[in-house]
Amino acid sequence: MDSLRSYDALPYDRLPFPETEPDFLAALARLHGFAAEDARSARVLELGCAQGGNLIPMAARYPEGEFVGVDLSRVQVEEGLAFVARLQMNNISLRHGDIAALPDDLGEFDFIIAHGVYSWVPDFVREALLAACRRLLKPQGIAYVSFNVAVGWRSYGRLRRLLLEHDRPELGPVQRVERARSLLAAAAFDDARLRKEAEYLMKASPSYVFHEYLSETNQAFPFARFVADAGAHGLRYLGEAGPRRARVALENDWGLSGEARCERWLEAEAGLDEALDTRFRRALLVRDDAVLPQPQRAELLEGLAFSAELTSDDELDFAGACEQHFSASAGERLPAAHPLLKAFLVVLAAAYPRGLDYATASGQALELAREYGYRGEADAAFLEALLDFAQLQGVRLHAVIPERRDCSGDFPLAPPLARAQASVSGWPVTNAFHVALDVDEWGRRLLAAMDGSMSIDALATRLLQELNASGIQATAEQAAQHAHGYVGFFRRQGLLSC
Ligand SMILES: C[S@@+](CC[C@H](N)C(=O)[O-])C[C@H]1O[C@@H](n2cnc3c(N)ncnc32)[C@H](O)[C@@H]1O
Repeated sequence: MDSLRSYDALPYDRLPFPETEPDFLAALARLHGFAAEDARSARVLELGCAQGGNLIPMAARYPEGEFVGVDLSRVQVEEGLAFVARLQMNNISLRHGDIAALPDDLGEFDFIIAHGVYSWVPDFVREALLAACRRLLKPQGIAYVSFNVAVGWRSYGRLRRLLLEHDRPELGPVQRVERARSLLAAAAFDDARLRKEAEYLMKASPSYVFHEYLSETNQAFPFARFVADAGAHGLRYLGEAGPRRARVALENDWGLSGEARCERWLEAEAGLDEALDTRFRRALLVRDDAVLPQPQRAELLEGLAFSAELTSDDELDFAGACEQHFSASAGERLPAAHPLLKAFLVVLAAAYPRGLDYATASGQALELAREYGYRGEADAAFLEALLDFAQLQGVRLHAVIPERRDCSGDFPLAPPLARAQASVSGWPVTNAFHVALDVDEWGRRLLAAMDGSMSIDALATRLLQELNASGIQATAEQAAQHAHGYVGFFRRQGLLSC
């Protein structure tokens, strides 16, 4: 079988995508009334897995699960296999293969992930991808398929055409990205979104610029077309895994048959893309012989667990419904007005990196809010507000409460995956929530050394020696501060046990 030369020449980044994490997908499915399998022992297939940057951390998190990745780029698969061998993992296999010619021995899966593939492959591969999802999904299985959406891509499509007109395909990928960037630097865009995108492309990873803007194929689809194509392959739309500022609420739908309600919902979803100018969708699909999907229902949040890494500079009012703001770890400011929601978020932030089930979190939130004068209950309005906040991904939903060991000892121990990621250049360090962390060179060195045998002070001494050996002047106090700071950070990311 041949290899995919464009990705061999410029491999994709090795990023984890938290929105593809199986437990998160199971939690989302539950909100739609769909009983997905327990992620901890699931069989998971990733189509177009590149080097395994997404799949390997999942496999490390769920040792009872079984993970299979397939990618047509031999170079990327070999990179991934080398990393898996280094970690001596035996619950994951990465295979060099074509989505359009998958082997017969893969078996069936609880979760199938195809992130960043659907829009970027020719039609016959896209068809094969949907056919594989239907053929290989277990009856309660969930497929995640992301794609570029036609509405939002109208203007980015113009930008892509401009860059392609000036492209010289005979050059190497890095030179082509440099040419594209020179053009962007010289261009003046009248559209504010394009100005912002051009700015982003100047600092984005070259592989993103190349594969998104200079690749042969990048097709955006209207939501309705995607749903119809999935339907033609025996799959139904279940919901959305990406963050969104709005959601569909069906009113006056009593008396409608399930099918009619579903139809109205899908029409409203397409309308939402127009209203939000949606650029990218992360769609969940299920088999058409499974229970009929329905819009998410806020009361189903009561069956889930939650975690959130949030802060707020506001003096929070737990009695009144004034809009106040919380900051997520990535820096976004997220609004919350319902007094009990604000208390709920404070409770989650205090527990982080532990997660809490609904009963515990809402019980503690009620206690806190009542202390400050809240007279209400955890009622329907609260659940709707929580669902809106969860949809912005200010809180993370879990089907199962994530296990975390408390770590306050002096001898930090990071899991083998984190230490390997920290030691091998090009691999991002992934936290316990499947999010890539921003860690500098010295933080990576510290993490790589956290095998439980060295105290924090010993790590600081070693760091000082390494800094000095690299010609960086630092005091023992500065090295100790850095080491303690990083241990605190890695603890908060759920990475350490002691
Ligand atoms: C845009 S990248 C996305 C990689 C990864 N899923 C991510 O999001 O980081 C698309 C991936 O699909 C793979 N791919 C493209 N066509 C394929 C095919 N026919 N069969 C298997 N993999 C394919 C490419 O090699 C590449 O790794």
